[in-house]
Amino acid sequence: MNIALHNDLSLTPVSRGVSTEYPFLQMRYALRNIAGVGGMGVVYRANDTLLSALGATDDIVAVKMCSSDLVDHPQAEQRLLMEYQNASRLKHPNIIAMRQFDVCRQQQKAFLVMEWLDGLSLEQLLYQQVLSADVALKLARQLVDAVSHCHTRGVVHADIKPANFQVSPENHLTLFDFGISRWLYQPAMIRNDVIRACSCRYAAPELFNEQPPTISSDLFSVCCVLYRLFRGEHPFKDTTDEAAARNDEIAPIFGRRHPLDKVLLQGLKWQPRERSTSVDLLQQVLLQLSAADLNRYWF
Ligand SMILES: Nc1ncnc2c1ncn2[C@@H]1O[C@H](COP(=O)(O)OP(=O)(O)O)[C@@H](O)[C@H]1O
Ligand SMILES: [Mg+2]
Repeated sequence: MNIALHNDLSLTPVSRGVSTEYPFLQMRYALRNIAGVGGMGVVYRANDTLLSALGATDDIVAVKMCSSDLVDHPQAEQRLLMEYQNASRLKHPNIIAMRQFDVCRQQQKAFLVMEWLDGLSLEQLLYQQVLSADVALKLARQLVDAVSHCHTRGVVHADIKPANFQVSPENHLTLFDFGISRWLYQPAMIRNDVIRACSCRYAAPELFNEQPPTISSDLFSVCCVLYRLFRGEHPFKDTTDEAAARNDEIAPIFGRRHPLDKVLLQGLKWQPRERSTSVDLLQQVLLQLSAADLNRYWF
């Protein structure tokens, strides 16, 4: 069977009493197919053949490697290691679980192994359908719980956007892609790196202005995603300085007096110092809301 491997990655199958049908990494991970290609990496769906040989049922994993487009980028594999280290600081049902970081000796390529996430990205889900109030609320609570846990552990995700959440068929949401995340106890990444790598549409305006990602810039991105989750569209036409100069009004989702609108409008302030709210406050507001609160207009 031929398998489409990304770019020039030609992994040699090896025989160890298991099938040699697929390319192997470190005589353990049998790569099945490309699950996704992002700005920085290629992710494969793979079998952990060690686990399957031991009879474990959770032997499907995701393997991430740097894209070959980044071979000349000396920091790319360091970043992959940082992704592994930062995500490993976290343990939460709504955050991706890391399993291993290693270097494939034959290819001299670093890779990380993580839990496999079934389902669709939140981006795909929002593109496909209008969510009912109770599903939107269920997803929003999990999303905010995940980000709150990151911040409690000192991790700034720095790339919060619908494409970096996976939603299972049972509506379980998982935050992943810690590729440009930052641990607050280490020096921040330099600005050019962040801007090149992060998704401009959901990034806080200060990230375009020499500032490192912070808890406040994550808060801005969370508010953008929640706004889209409940209203079906992004709160801003764009997040450039021109848009700031225009001072576009954000249309309320449920009404200006609605507790969720109030807290989102505070989190979406252009200036970080004016964001007089927090992910924890969002968490409280979402906990107190019922689906019925989302089905009527608040004047
Ligand atoms: N653990 C996973 N399980 C299933 N698919 C995944 C997993 N991690 C990533 N993917 C897929 O691979 C794509 C790229 O992964 P991501 O970590 O977002 O890379 P990048 O840093 O390049 O954006 C994702 O959009 C998703 O489709
Ligand atoms: Mg991504």
